Amino acid sequence: MSTSTRSVPTIALNDGHHIPQLGFGVFQIPPEETAKAVQTALRIGYRHIDTAEMYRNERGVGEAVRASGIGREEIFITSKLNNGYHRPDDARRAFDQTLAELGSEYVDLFLIHWPLPTLYEGDFVSTWKTLEEFKQQGRARSIGVSNFQVAHLERLARETEVTPAVNQIELHPYLLNDEVRRYGESHGIATEAWSPIAQGGVLDDPVITDIARRLDRTPAQVVLRWHVQRASIVFPKSTTPSRIEENFALFDFELDDEDIQAINGLDKGEDGRTGPDPDKFAYIPDF
Ligand SMILES: NC(=O)c1ccc[n+]([C@@H]2O[C@H](COP(=O)([O-])OP(=O)(O)OC[C@H]3O[C@@H](n4cnc5c(N)ncnc54)[C@H](OP(=O)(O)O)[C@@H]3O)[C@@H](O)[C@H]2O)c1
Repeated sequence: MSTSTRSVPTIALNDGHHIPQLGFGVFQIPPEETAKAVQTALRIGYRHIDTAEMYRNERGVGEAVRASGIGREEIFITSKLNNGYHRPDDARRAFDQTLAELGSEYVDLFLIHWPLPTLYEGDFVSTWKTLEEFKQQGRARSIGVSNFQVAHLERLARETEVTPAVNQIELHPYLLNDEVRRYGESHGIATEAWSPIAQGGVLDDPVITDIARRLDRTPAQVVLRWHVQRASIVFPKSTTPSRIEENFALFDFELDDEDIQAINGLDKGEDGRTGPDPDKFAYIPDF
């Protein structure tokens, strides 16, 4: 398969930095398997890795980056603040730990993983201001949020100085999450689509399998290409080397408008959500 890093477009963020539109996600990859999976992804050409404190595998990501022989500057690394550390002093300690685990002096992007509006007296604002410190120090090149609803983003706009560079939200053909996506579009916040293939849940849909058959592509490639053409940033997860390679081969074909519209038509609204409701999610891991 002919793939090259040059074929992955970058998206300009509102702070002047650029992010590769396609990356590799490591949610649910066990810590002891992470370095191997990330090494495979880097060998295939991925230059953007999406991890989180909650995934407990930042160390494996750092190991793979060092073992790859690829310069740190060439790889875009995202991590996210764990839910138990929203208070500023805890966030500072957790961020130090993230950098130590990764073995890097900086992350390219650091996110508040969940808004947790029912915890911390609803205060995600002081958490965001703490991320602003990390950005000012240059230890997080960009900062953003994840799972923020429109009301949460509006509150940040009212009460803080820095607009998030990205909002990472659940988004796939069964959950277009359009209200949040549109808010991002009109306020300079790039949308990152998590669970871009709904953890495999959309791959048997006849609308998608029909397009895949006609274009001689796999259903996963069709769905990931749909994201790319809608300007979302994606980082599918896989521990299967052939799938890691398959998911990278997105830049030598196109969907036409009719295909895009047909996939848009699969939206089930809130019924299509597979993960937690960001307005209610209040989980704090015991680590
Ligand atoms: N911010 C958040 O709250 C949040 C939440 C969830 C996810 N995320 C991020 O988004 C990334 C991706 O989401 P995700 O991991 O939930 O789900 P996903 O990427 O939509 O799907 C991953 C699943 O699909 C399978 N798969 C991957 N490629 C495939 C292919 N070409 N054909 C068939 N099956 C395939 C994988 O299996 P195998 O591994 O067995 O191959 C795995 O079970 C995560 O890794 C994480 O970085 C963020």
